[in-house]
Order: sequence, then structure tokens, then C-alpha cells
Amino acid sequence: MGLSHSPTADRQRLDDIVRSVNRLRPLPGSPVRILKELDNPTTSVRKIAELIALDQAITAYLLKVANSAAMGYSRECSSVQDAVIRLGFKQVRSLVYSTMASGPLSARLSGYRLGAQGLWFHSVSVASSAHWLATALRYPEPEKAYIAGLLHDIGKLVLDQYVLADYNKIMQIIHTENQPMWKVEHHLFGVDHAEVGGFAGEHWQFPQELIAAIRYHHSPEQDQPNQQLAALVNLANALAPSDSDEDLFLVGKVITPATYEILNLNPEKTPKLAERLKASLTNYQSRFEIT
Ligand SMILES: [Fe+2]
Ligand SMILES: [Fe+2]
Repeated sequence: MGLSHSPTADRQRLDDIVRSVNRLRPLPGSPVRILKELDNPTTSVRKIAELIALDQAITAYLLKVANSAAMGYSRECSSVQDAVIRLGFKQVRSLVYSTMASGPLSARLSGYRLGAQGLWFHSVSVASSAHWLATALRYPEPEKAYIAGLLHDIGKLVLDQYVLADYNKIMQIIHTENQPMWKVEHHLFGVDHAEVGGFAGEHWQFPQELIAAIRYHHSPEQDQPNQQLAALVNLANALAPSDSDEDLFLVGKVITPATYEILNLNPEKTPKLAERLKASLTNYQSRFEIT
């Protein structure tokens, strides 16, 4: 049976969830300034490098990535400006998002049964998979897929406490109705973690395209600006390599039928694609390894 919005969904709890989103702390200052400057069409490498240099964590991470063996350069890159030139604005943008999100996404989520860094590893795996799949399927902006993959489950940070409170009930519905987690969330709370992630993205003033990719990562067929981006995240979420003890229902590893259509992908060819993804990712992931 399909789960619809539950008439018993508690209106007060829904209000409470929305209020929790509005109470989310602002993201730390300098990444937001750097991201804004990266969107400025008249910006310069110098301006970006100056802003990055004000943030110790981003500077350290930028230099580490720019000098990592995976980049394949022999000359060491010691200045921020050199590193920005080497990586290019698009990769710098992914890197800034990663630095910004690594703290919040590393939290332990008891409701979703994710230990410390559990969500972070899932997020990085989906991000890297989305980037790889975007390239393989000729989506023109793989870095956008990376960022959307990285942030897709950010709504779980807010919903976790509600999932924890209703954990037994949720598990019972998941297993008796054979439905993915996000549908059960919607059924019980009137909102699921993808929608809550969309609200969080609005709260943090993410770009519209990114907000939509987060909001529709389990339902890319919805009318929205970039169905392909949401579909890529949907696919990456299902195919991303994961720890074996991950609960498939809890993670919601289901490819939505619309994803095949939107990406013009033959379902019969998907297992092969998943195999290639898995084989490539070990090398590939090192590009964005984060400590
Ligand atoms: Fe999700
Ligand atoms: Fe996910």
C-alpha cells in the first residue's frame, strides 16, 4: 500500500519541526562570504584567495587538496592563490561547502541509528558518486552534483529527534508496509527529511537549484528547476558504496522510477553502471578526502 499523508499527523509537531529549522544556527561567517564572492561574475582569484586566507580551516584543507597526490602535480603549491588557480573556482566551491558541512554532518544521529560521522561518510560517498555519475551520464556540471549529493540528507539533522521519539512505530511501519523511511516520515510527521532539508537550505540561503535538489532527492519528478540534478542525487543515493551494516530501509536506497526517465537511463544497464562506479570510486574519492 502507498502511504499518504496521515490525518493523524500532529499539526503541532509539524509547526515544531518548522520552528526547529528556523532555530538552526547560521552557518559560520567566512564560507558564506566566499560562496557569495564565487557567485560574483566580476570576482578575481586574488579576491577569493584573500577571503579564503581569513579562514584557517578552509586554507588548510585547500592546500591539502591542491597538493594531494591525486591531483598529479609535481610542483608544490604553497600559496592560497596558487591553490585556487590549480583547483579552479568550481572545485573551490565544492571544497568550501565540504568544510562548512563537515561539522554539522558529523553529528551522531540516534534516531537514524547513525554513529558519529555516519551521516558524513554517507554524504561524502553520495557526493562523490553523484559527481562520477554526472560525468558518466554527461551532465554538464558535475561539481553541482557533488555539492547537492553532499548536502542531500541535511534535513536529517533536524528530524533526528522526532524519528528517535517515534522509532519503534517507524520501524514497524517500514517493515509491515515495506516502505522507505522518507515516506514513513511524511506519513507520520506531514513532512520528510528531504523537505526539511529544503527548508534548511532556504534558511541558509543556498542557491535555488541546490535547495530543489535537496528537497526532491527522493521525488525528482516533481515540478522544479533542475530535475536532472535531483535525479542524479536520487541515483547516487541508491548506488553509493556504503558500509555493509547500513540499514537499507533507513537510508532509503531506492531509485525512484522517474529517475530513469529523467536521466535517460536504461534500468537494465544500471547494475553495470553501479559496478563501474564502485570500481572507480576508491581512486576517485581521494580527490576530496577530508580528515
Ligand atoms: Fe534522503
Ligand atoms: Fe541519503
